Amino acid sequence: MKITRIFISFVALMVILGPGCSQQPSSSFTSQPDSSSDMKLQKTYEDLIVGYAQLGAESEWRAANTISIKETAEQLGVELRFLDAQQKQDNQIVAVRKFIVQKVDIIGISPIVETGWDEVFQEAKDAGIPIILVDRRAAVPEDLYVSYLGSDFLEEGRKAARIMAELVNGNANIVELVGTIGSAPANDRYTGFREILQDYPEMQIIDSESGDFTRARGREVMRVFLQKHGNQITAVYAHNDDMALGAIEAIEEYGLKPEVDIKIVSVDAARGAFEAMIAGKLNATVECNPLLGPQFFELALKVVNGQPIPRWVPSIEDVFFPEDASEILPTRKY
Ligand code: AHR
Repeated sequence: MKITRIFISFVALMVILGPGCSQQPSSSFTSQPDSSSDMKLQKTYEDLIVGYAQLGAESEWRAANTISIKETAEQLGVELRFLDAQQKQDNQIVAVRKFIVQKVDIIGISPIVETGWDEVFQEAKDAGIPIILVDRRAAVPEDLYVSYLGSDFLEEGRKAARIMAELVNGNANIVELVGTIGSAPANDRYTGFREILQDYPEMQIIDSESGDFTRARGREVMRVFLQKHGNQITAVYAHNDDMALGAIEAIEEYGLKPEVDIKIVSVDAARGAFEAMIAGKLNATVECNPLLGPQFFELALKVVNGQPIPRWVPSIEDVFFPEDASEILPTRKY
């Protein structure tokens, strides 16, 4: 009796709901494309969960880069999981693995060095989490990341060499402060500078050492250069402004005049470089833009929504000299 009543109730329910109800919601089986439900699938910034593996806080440039990422996420309402690897590749790898476990929508990373990323990037790919390289490239197969957003470091090195050649009339004993060994900007700024120098046989690089992109190391290495080569040095090429500022301190300690006795060209165009140019201590700076937050999140949203994006989104960058520094400094955002 009880069983019969249950059966009758079940049949009545089936009649009310119709034939498809016992399997799946009918909308999953509609044969006509439903543009309104497609629209609902598109994520907005407020839906996005982004993991960001920053490499550290070694320079004025990096500080500006971090602020740009964090502030833009806040303005857009993106949920940002941000980890600072404190200058260690191992920490960056751990950060990426954490983001994979957390199932973020997408990962942004500034790889501290170019090599050693294949395994962890493959893990992200296997988990279906796309990676955008921000600021620095990684030497991995193209299918392991969706896009690179950042500068043309080779061209920055070439620009620095062209400026230097003008400053020294094609004749100089140069010491070079190299960035973090194995990093994309250090590798490319090193190579780009030398490409141009091939046309200037009287411009010699007499010493080259890493200052790890920091002011303290730049000062230390420049002290050693001065002890070794003294007045022979006529020019400094620094892969970033922080190291140039450290070198300026060492040159002054040594009793020489930066910008006059020793010409100095660096890369970044951070505020510290403008102040040094205004003070008559730096000859030029080549711009490298750290304000990548807005472009990064725009790319991230497109990727998550399956829209096409370029393989490389290059930054547009300038070069700056002392004569314009006072006018330009108030407009600088980093
Ligand atoms: O990758 C960009 C470089 O990293 C900047 O030139 C330097 O200042 C930073 O530390």
